[in-house]
Amino acid sequence: MVVDVVTYSTEARLRTVSYAHMSQMTSDDYELGEEYQRELNSQLPDRLLEALRGLEKYKGPIQVTRLEHTLQSATRAHRDGRDEEYVVAALMHDIGDDFAPHSHGPMVSAILGPFLPERLCWIVEKHPLFQTYYYAEFMGADPAARDKYRDHPYYGDCVEFCELYDQNCFDPEYESLPLEFFEPMVRRIFGRQPRYAAWDVV
Ligand SMILES: [Fe+2]
Ligand SMILES: [Fe+2]
Repeated sequence: MVVDVVTYSTEARLRTVSYAHMSQMTSDDYELGEEYQRELNSQLPDRLLEALRGLEKYKGPIQVTRLEHTLQSATRAHRDGRDEEYVVAALMHDIGDDFAPHSHGPMVSAILGPFLPERLCWIVEKHPLFQTYYYAEFMGADPAARDKYRDHPYYGDCVEFCELYDQNCFDPEYESLPLEFFEPMVRRIFGRQPRYAAWDVV
C-alpha cells in the first residue's frame, strides 16, 4: 500500500478519485471510495487481533504483560460461562491503553460500539473510573467516585466486571487460554454488520 502511494503506478492512478475537494466528488468517486472502505472494513478483525498481539510488549512493573492481562480477563469470563459478546468485550477492554492512556475506556467503547450491545460498551467505557475503587486512596482520590453512577442501569454490571474480570487479572500464576482460542470470536463479532454507520455517531 505504501509503495502504491509513493510511486503512483498506472493502475493506482486509474483507480484514484478525481477530486481534490470533497465538494467536487462524483458518483464514480464515491463508489470507488466505498469499494476501498468495504475492503478495509473486512480486515478490521485482523487489525484488532494485531493490536491485541501488540499488547505483549507492554509490561512495566506489573507481573504480566498487557496481553496476558486481557487474556486473563477473557478467559475468566469464558470459564464463567459468559456469552461470546461479553468475552470479546473483556478481551478488548484495554486495547486502547497505549494510544489513549488518559481515555482508553471511551476509545475502546467507540471501537466496540457498532458491534456490541450498549451495556457492554458502557462497561468498557466506564471501567477505568470504576477500577479506581481499588486504588484511589493511594492518589488521594475518592474510592467511591464511581457511585455517581449508582442509579445507572449498568452500574452493577460495571462493578461486577471490575471485580471478576479486571482487578484480579494481574496474576502470573493464572493459566489463560491463548489468543488463538479467542480469534474466531473476534472474527465473528467484528465481521458482523455494524449496528450503525460512522455518520450516525452522536
Ligand atoms: Fe483499563
Ligand atoms: Fe484492565
